[in-house]
Amino acid sequence: MALSSCNNFQDFRRLAKRRLPGPIFHYIDGAADDEQTYRRNTQAYGDCDLVPNVLVDVAEIDMSVEVMGQKLAMPVYCAPTALQRLFHHEGERAVARAASKYGTMFGVSSLATVSVEEIAAIADTPKMFQFYFHKDRGLNDALLERARAASFDVMALTVDTITGGNRERDLHTGFTSPPKLTLNSLMSFATHPMWAWNFLTREKFDMPHLSGHVSEGTNLAVSVGNYFSSMLDQSMNWKDAEELCAKWNGQFALKGIMSVADAKRAVDIGCTGIMVSNHGGRQLDGSRSPFDQLAEICDAVGDKIDVVCEGGIQRGTHILKALSVGAKACSGGRLYLYALAAAGQAGVEKALGNLRTEIERDMKLMGVTRIDQLSRDNLRFRNAA
Ligand code: LAC
Repeated sequence: MALSSCNNFQDFRRLAKRRLPGPIFHYIDGAADDEQTYRRNTQAYGDCDLVPNVLVDVAEIDMSVEVMGQKLAMPVYCAPTALQRLFHHEGERAVARAASKYGTMFGVSSLATVSVEEIAAIADTPKMFQFYFHKDRGLNDALLERARAASFDVMALTVDTITGGNRERDLHTGFTSPPKLTLNSLMSFATHPMWAWNFLTREKFDMPHLSGHVSEGTNLAVSVGNYFSSMLDQSMNWKDAEELCAKWNGQFALKGIMSVADAKRAVDIGCTGIMVSNHGGRQLDGSRSPFDQLAEICDAVGDKIDVVCEGGIQRGTHILKALSVGAKACSGGRLYLYALAAAGQAGVEKALGNLRTEIERDMKLMGVTRIDQLSRDNLRFRNAA
């Protein structure tokens, strides 16, 4: 299958599966425990129906939104994800360039494989930095200051990885960062020679925000679950979040909020955004899906803070449903990661282009020309209590 015939999320997923060694594909594709939350994240959209209006002039569509002070040309952006050069040798550079082309935001992880300085030089679109709160306070300060110096627009503190999720696919494949050469993984690399060639002959694997501070992940192979459990500070609390927010003194979001109580607290400590997210089902299996939880959070804080719906999004209609409930924008990781793995920058551009085309078509079919014309009036929930 060629990139040009990737019309949807599942097409990219199939192509990525073919291109990537098993341990790496399953790291992206997998989630926690029985992966029920991971599946529910997408299924939730199927339990809600759109009710269109017709005979509206929809010749001109404006799908732009403003979220956390950033003007985005489309209402979905690339959520920060780790380790992108493992998926394709262009890594974070590909995502930065593709997002810039589509005028949308993208996130760069503390666990990225290209530096914030290099990304800043490439991108001319809003940039989010994903902060992991480490035990090493020197590292925390360095992360904040590097992101600030590189003119990142939004700081997002990850709050749903206080310990590593139980990712049984990674346990099974032995996936680590950097990849460990075991008999199994060697077999898998040998059967994916293109990936192996790129990995071995392109620039050396590195996590530039961590190297110099910790060797885990860069020089010492560890699983992502172990990294979270051993390197991040499990005593992190609201006071730490408030201090970080004040220190950043700009657009600041909590990534991984699920309860109304926490959403209200995010407002109280001065955050300007929250990502309603369960980390793509990769942390607490059995956790509610972001879309299922969105209405009560928007009702409680939607007029005080920008709410982003993150996770499970595969279609333009999923985005329109979340925006109708009250989200200011949507974001996702896998929605561009399979495409990155499949074809680098060209893949991410195709994935964003597909979503853009779907959103435009779906807005026309819904009878709306601007995002603020969407509301809960155009939704019906099945099995609603
Ligand atoms: C993960 C982290 C790194 O879910 O975001 O694997």
